[in-house]
Amino acid sequence: MSRSANSESLIQVHDRTFRPYIRRDEVMEMVRDVATQINRDLAGQEVTLLVVLKGALVFAADLMRQLQMPVTLEVLRASSYRDAMSSTGTVILEDVVPDVVGRHVVVVEDIIDSGTTMRELIKHLGSYRPASVSVAALLSKPDVHQGGIQIDYVGREIARDFVVGYGMDYAGHGRHLDAIWIVDDALDT
Ligand code: IMP
Ligand code: MG
Repeated sequence: MSRSANSESLIQVHDRTFRPYIRRDEVMEMVRDVATQINRDLAGQEVTLLVVLKGALVFAADLMRQLQMPVTLEVLRASSYRDAMSSTGTVILEDVVPDVVGRHVVVVEDIIDSGTTMRELIKHLGSYRPASVSVAALLSKPDVHQGGIQIDYVGREIARDFVVGYGMDYAGHGRHLDAIWIVDDALDT
């Protein structure tokens, strides 16, 4: 049974406790806002969504169905987090970058923390001569990346605390949760 952030209850994900943070309906509103902006900015263009796996999978699935232009889909695995709550600072691009020559690419990311992943990815993409590259992130942590990163569309800016759900994981767990939960420091030291 799926749990909803409407409930006051805490949940256990792997070895940490999380509390409700962004409700499912709020998440859907954030996705709608991002889709509306992309529909406006890239109207009449053919768009290639480049989904950064695994975290952006759920966001991308909801986002792409609200886009009104012709859309093609590419995926790429990249990770700087390794079963932990802090970035290693090393980005591992686990696949060859798909052919995006001449395409209008929208990189779809779940959350931008230090910005390392996105910076690396944008750098790599540039050498494939796309027609344009923009970045859509469901969440962003400006206190961590200090604005030094291109984010064209963002669902919501949040503080630096660790979140799970709606595709995002903690140590590989919690991606299936339909709302977004935040680590509960009150109970974890
Ligand atoms: P960055 O390279 O530091 O910006 O890290 C970005 C990646 O780390 C994202 O694609 C996520 O997969 C992961 N990440 C960052 N913050 C969180 C979080 O709060 N919860 C889950 N994953 C996160
Ligand atoms: Mg990610």
